[in-house]
Amino acid sequence: MLAGKRILLIIGGGIAAFKSLDLIRRLRERGAEVVPVLTKASEEFVTPLSASALAAQKVYRDLFDLTDEAEMGHIELSRAADLVVVAPATADLMAKMAGGHANDLASTLLLATDKRVLIAPAMNVRMWEHPATQRNLATLQGDGILTVGPDEGDMACGEYGPGRMAEPLAIVAAVEVALMDGPLNGKHVLVTSGPTHEPIDPVRYIANRSSGAQGTAIARALSALGAKVSFVTGPADVPPPAGVDVIRVQTAQQMLEAVQTALPADAGVFAAAVADWRVASASESKIKKGEDGTPSLEFAENPDILATVSQMKAGRPSLVVGFAAETDDVIAHATAKRERKGCDWIIANDVSPETGIMGGSENAVTLISEDGSDAWPRMSKDDVARKIAVAIAEALS
Ligand code: CTP
Repeated sequence: MLAGKRILLIIGGGIAAFKSLDLIRRLRERGAEVVPVLTKASEEFVTPLSASALAAQKVYRDLFDLTDEAEMGHIELSRAADLVVVAPATADLMAKMAGGHANDLASTLLLATDKRVLIAPAMNVRMWEHPATQRNLATLQGDGILTVGPDEGDMACGEYGPGRMAEPLAIVAAVEVALMDGPLNGKHVLVTSGPTHEPIDPVRYIANRSSGAQGTAIARALSALGAKVSFVTGPADVPPPAGVDVIRVQTAQQMLEAVQTALPADAGVFAAAVADWRVASASESKIKKGEDGTPSLEFAENPDILATVSQMKAGRPSLVVGFAAETDDVIAHATAKRERKGCDWIIANDVSPETGIMGGSENAVTLISEDGSDAWPRMSKDDVARKIAVAIAEALS
């Protein structure tokens, strides 16, 4: 799959750098040529000799190494690759990239390259969760930088949480996707995401806990494969990805209208947590505490957007994908939901509190289609998104 591909691998200075040596091996096993670049800090963790031996290549280390400049200038080095991979991407490297710095070989190559860049962040959980890192991550994703991981788990520093570099094989899978030549080029995919807000009066509303993270990751992954994405989103916690058409809505009814306006599409992915009910007659003015005691709210059923699109007589997307978040009998409920709503695939997951999936960074899903069910191992929500995007690309090809 990677035969003939040249990968510039920038190894950042973190404890996870040792896994990058295995990554070199895995990439080469699949036929890729790997050109390692070491930062000064990474040489504290891996030696140039081990990287060079595993890659069977010269290792690049210094911006002002005249031999390298004579052989291959840094601009050339950054462009001769098919893909630039940064693993581990430390907090410092991410900050440099987000700020456009060019004060060493790695940051200069990253600023000079005209190729796609995939980063595998790795750092202590607090560093990962720090607003500065999250701001840099959003900037980088907005610039079109692809990410893989980090994973959640025990860390070398003794803490637990997200921050562990993705495993080498997960990085290889992300590399393969990044190198795909836009399999969704020319395809239009509609994605719904986030919660809906159903007004009670002008200042109050009924909502749910959806962050919009999974839908946003799916839209980003589809866009990375070349799709034109219409992203219809309720008021989500996470910002929408760059490079997609964002249509912001508040209520389920507005979401349905926006979806109908955005059609036709080749595929529709309905990841939104749509409120099943709205307040039947939301008040035009703020409800005041009065003598009538507590107000009683009457509900009306919202349109089922997934079912409406799945059952369209004309102009139905050729692939309609729904989600089913369940707490018991996951597969049975999700299989029944697929049939009831009339969609092609249901991505089912178990959101019982003990799974830690709701609000967490990982997901364990089962893809249910007419061919049966396919359980995917637990992985990050970004990896789930990438796998869904690849499956959609295959189904539409
Ligand atoms: N969905 C939708 N419009 C709605 C409700 C749900 O498009 N009004 C979509 C969701 O985006 C998701 C799928 O339907 O893809 C499943 O939603 P879910 O809430 O699990 O289904 P329900 O029909 O509400 O079933 P349940 O009884 O389990 O709540």
